[in-house]
Amino acid sequence: MTEAERAEQGHGYAVNAPYYDLISPEAAREALVAALDLLPEKAGAVAEIGPGTGHFTEALLARLGPDAEIFAIEPARIMRAALVTRLAGLPAAAERVTVLPEDALTAQVDAPLDGVVLFNLVMHFAPADRACLWKKWAEALRPGGVLLMESQYPQTATAVPPSLVPGRRLGRYRYETLSRADVAGEDLLRWVTTYRTLRGDEVVREESAEFDCHVVSDDTLAAELSAAGLERHPAAPEGVQAWRRPDPGRTT
Ligand SMILES: C[S@@+](CC[C@H](N)C(=O)[O-])C[C@H]1O[C@@H](n2cnc3c(N)ncnc32)[C@H](O)[C@@H]1O
Repeated sequence: MTEAERAEQGHGYAVNAPYYDLISPEAAREALVAALDLLPEKAGAVAEIGPGTGHFTEALLARLGPDAEIFAIEPARIMRAALVTRLAGLPAAAERVTVLPEDALTAQVDAPLDGVVLFNLVMHFAPADRACLWKKWAEALRPGGVLLMESQYPQTATAVPPSLVPGRRLGRYRYETLSRADVAGEDLLRWVTTYRTLRGDEVVREESAEFDCHVVSDDTLAAELSAAGLERHPAAPEGVQAWRRPDPGRTT
């Protein structure tokens, strides 16, 4: 079952969505916003796959030129609701962002792309689907176009002990998450995340979501992306996976 289907049944992102913008670790977000600078300077069209609530869509709008178009591909209805609500409040989005409700493997974008952004998403794809994913989006890129994602954590299918991540405050409540991962199969981890709402030190609400996540190491990613015809971007900082379609005309 896909994550969009699980969300329709009240699982996964249906539980996670109301907390999403309050619990995402700020430093990791900032590092990925900075990575958007690796997209070609004069990018005309970018696809963002799995934009969720649209944090990076808003950052893309701010960083790309005033005529650049964004295709935001978000299959989970509850995440798309948050995305569209955010975009409706951004005047710059009106002419430039198209929201597609299909998923990464079925969405059709009929413009050559200068960038494909997949942040915090790759773990949802099994190896066979990843091969289709890379082929489809590598072919959609223009020469010199860049595909961006983050390196995955952990790099091997080993259990991750529980850790508490503080989130933000909203009014009288603050939010935090407790996450752990259990080994669920070969190269598969089951992440269990508990979303806590606190008033002072008292927990007033607690609910959990589970996600089965495919583990993909940097080495595996490199092999798969090279096989899809992409080359490593020389300026990618640690923790960022930036790959580009070779441009025979490039001089630098
Ligand atoms: C962890 S969230 C990341 C959201 C956003 N990219 C961010 O980093 O803030 C993963 C998102 O990917 C979406 N997603 C899951 N499977 C997908 C698929 N097959 N195609 C496109 N998006 C998918 C989910 O609905 C969810 O919104």
